[in-house]
Amino acid sequence: MVVCLCKGVSDRQIQQLVDAGARSLRDVRETTGLGTQCGKCACEARQLVRDALSEQ
Ligand code: FES
Repeated sequence: MVVCLCKGVSDRQIQQLVDAGARSLRDVRETTGLGTQCGKCACEARQLVRDALSEQ
């Protein structure tokens, strides 16, 4: 599922980034550009990062 339409970032990519060491939405943003255009995805993306972190 694509979370950030502007940058084409999927929930799977977010999961993979957390698995690879990302610890915050900021980390994901710096790597992918997620949330840097319209910003509509930020809320959902933040939750996905939290969920991925809590599963570790
Ligand atoms: Fe992510 Fe627009 S949907 S910045």
